[in-house]
Amino acid sequence: MVKIAVLGYGTIGSGVVEVLERNREVITKRAGEEIAVKYILDLRDFPGDPHEDLVVHDYEIIRSDPEVSVVVETMGGVEPAFTFAKAAILAGKHFATSNKALIAKHGAELIAMAQERSLNCLYGASVGGGIPIIRPLNSCLTADVIEEISGILNGTTNYMMTKMSEEGSEFDDVLHDAQAKGYAEADPTADIEGYDACRKIAILTSLVCARQVDFEEIHTEGITKITAADIRYAKAMGRRIKLLACSYRLGEQYCAIVAPYMLDESTPLYGVNGVFNAIFVKGNMLGDAMFYGSGAGKLPTASAVVADIVDIVRHKHVSITMDWKPEKVQLADYRNLTSRYFVRTTADAAAVESVFGEVSYVQAEGITGETAFVTGPMDGYAYEAAAAKLDGILQCIRVK
Ligand code: HSE
Repeated sequence: MVKIAVLGYGTIGSGVVEVLERNREVITKRAGEEIAVKYILDLRDFPGDPHEDLVVHDYEIIRSDPEVSVVVETMGGVEPAFTFAKAAILAGKHFATSNKALIAKHGAELIAMAQERSLNCLYGASVGGGIPIIRPLNSCLTADVIEEISGILNGTTNYMMTKMSEEGSEFDDVLHDAQAKGYAEADPTADIEGYDACRKIAILTSLVCARQVDFEEIHTEGITKITAADIRYAKAMGRRIKLLACSYRLGEQYCAIVAPYMLDESTPLYGVNGVFNAIFVKGNMLGDAMFYGSGAGKLPTASAVVADIVDIVRHKHVSITMDWKPEKVQLADYRNLTSRYFVRTTADAAAVESVFGEVSYVQAEGITGETAFVTGPMDGYAYEAAAAKLDGILQCIRVK
């Protein structure tokens, strides 16, 4: 029997305990032995909970218990998760986490620490919730040079954009709804400003280039400036607005961006709605592949955490190969990316054309007093230079 400790008994932590219980038989078969939760670490008590007797408040009890061979962290946030992770690995314990903030910041370091000790540090639930994407990138797509990853990596914002589009709902109402359903982060700023998606694309890009991508260097725009009017224009164009997190290989460099995009229906990500996530991957041999599924929520995320625990039990005495070194990647500036841009301005068509040349105009029912258009393909430097010469810009959204 393998004994584990779960750090944090919130949405994901309680999900991990539930998945282990509900699928005990099949999980035991696949792992090769039973997995038992010995401790649950939380600041709170849970009177009446069937597992209240497992709850401890002092991490030292877990760290110093030689029976605990796997520490599972589902608390979120960098600290104290990082301190607990290091202490677990130094005590000879494997480590699994759903925590993207921790892995985006310290993933390479924790992986190196674990590998030096023939241990594992797995983080399959940190990107895409229940969707297998970390393991495919690490173990399956090893024959390809990955040219592009474009993902809908935040369920909250995708849910919000879908609701706003389908029901004409207001931003604040759909945000409350997403929070009530347990999709949003404790502080939803991380979702709506794109910070959560930014950390996730930093993790995926790190895996693709086998080095550390600093999420602070990724240009990140959220969805807070998207209005009902933008959605009406998108509809008039047969498009949907989605928050995408993308990384591209540009020659020998990589470039990453998080921003809202207008997608048309020929794009595979167009049909990804509600809380679902999807990750589109382009390999130089594979071509296109897409990974789709539940990107947030208790049981899907817990399912990915438990899959990591099973993998750890299967690899108790050996580190699973993971090519992610602590050395840092210098990302190319996001303005090197070429895109078309949807722009709304109070300027007239003559002013628009004098700056942007030939453009396609867009009209949406009931919106007057402004000019809306889509530019030709241009890089970010050219767009910024042109936009600086045009007065009255109300909105700008990249078109994919
Ligand atoms: N807040 C995140 C989301 C949770 O909405 O996708 C999963 O990481």
